[in-house]
Amino acid sequence: MESCPPLLPDDPKVRIALVTGGSRGIGRAIAKTLALEKLHVILTYRSNTEEAKSCVSEIAQAGGSAAYALLDVADTEAIRAFFAGIKGANLFCLVNNAGITKDGLLLRMKESDFTSVLDVCLKGTFVASQEAAKLMTKKRTGRIISISSVVALMGNAGQANYTAAKAGIIGLTKTMARELAARNITCNAIAPGFIETDMTAQLSPEVKAQYISQIPLRRMGTPMDVAHAVAFLASDKAAYITGQVLSVNGGMYSWSQDGGYDVWYRWKSAKNHCRSAGRWRCQCETRGVLRRGSRRRFPRFDRAYHGHWRGIRHRNRRRGRSEDPESAGCRCLYRGECEGFEGLG
Ligand SMILES: NC(=O)c1ccc[n+]([C@@H]2O[C@H](COP(=O)([O-])OP(=O)(O)OC[C@H]3O[C@@H](n4cnc5c(N)ncnc54)[C@H](OP(=O)(O)O)[C@@H]3O)[C@@H](O)[C@H]2O)c1
Repeated sequence: MESCPPLLPDDPKVRIALVTGGSRGIGRAIAKTLALEKLHVILTYRSNTEEAKSCVSEIAQAGGSAAYALLDVADTEAIRAFFAGIKGANLFCLVNNAGITKDGLLLRMKESDFTSVLDVCLKGTFVASQEAAKLMTKKRTGRIISISSVVALMGNAGQANYTAAKAGIIGLTKTMARELAARNITCNAIAPGFIETDMTAQLSPEVKAQYISQIPLRRMGTPMDVAHAVAFLASDKAAYITGQVLSVNGGMYSWSQDGGYDVWYRWKSAKNHCRSAGRWRCQCETRGVLRRGSRRRFPRFDRAYHGHWRGIRHRNRRRGRSEDPESAGCRCLYRGECEGFEGLG
């Protein structure tokens, strides 16, 4: 029987990348891509030794260097023991990729299904990152890249456990980025969309077609689409990127574009301005962005927004408010950029 190559490279100067869940799917593509970038890859798996072996031999055939190790990321003691075994290694990159799903609607989800998904996806990421950071801190350099998901940003019916875990990864990544930046360790997350792997193979053709119809690029992603993003974040070219979430989803979802913080913040600013400026409304960029963004995507939001303006206009007309925005005490945050004011009457 073919045995596993030594876990660590002969040359201690060679940089090591550890990829959890690297035997199949996205993790496998990441392992192969990082090996091509001249990193020694250690890929871990939970149950499928044959897949892990075949990945390592494919990497060797392509001229790379890799080894595999059995490591259940839900088992904290096993992770600590694994890192104790590679003490002093030149670990440069950790990719927290291992993940599972146990879908079910909120009202029917068993507590055990909730915790087991959190244990693998979130706790495993936390413990592995903590142990990896101890090694990287000594070398004063490193990359921690964690695989989140598009559903962490948008939510998904039937995945309360998975979305909670993947959203947790984003918070964890942002905090780690702040804590470890002083040690020159960057921490980023990748939020893949709908990727063709065993995880999505279980979905019916109808569900797949429905997902694809929501993707502007009109196709599912491939594991390599995600692997290229990981390789970039692991490279020296990404040395100044930390605390970020990189979406790899074919345009399926974009947080700030679809009414996230950006639009909400601008709406609040416009509202404050409107309250203080009497019957006047601002002609600055704020309103344009709000109207352009909201009209197409959020008809309800658009109605609320215009209803708000109408309400203010009538109220102010009744009250006979001043028409001079300055004397009405305009506090618009965009005032400096305003080109002028337009009366509504
Ligand atoms: N596929 C998608 O559409 C998609 C979208 C967004 C995010 N993601 C995320 O991307 C990552 C990879 O997904 P995938 O589609 O490639 O999944 P996959 O094909 O099901 O592969 C999962 C990998 O994780 C390993 N694994 C599972 N549980 C583990 C555990 N407890 N300890 C260690 N390893 C474990 C598996 O090892 P064994 O083979 O030994 O079981 C396998 O190598 C996951 O975190 C997933 O949540 C996937």
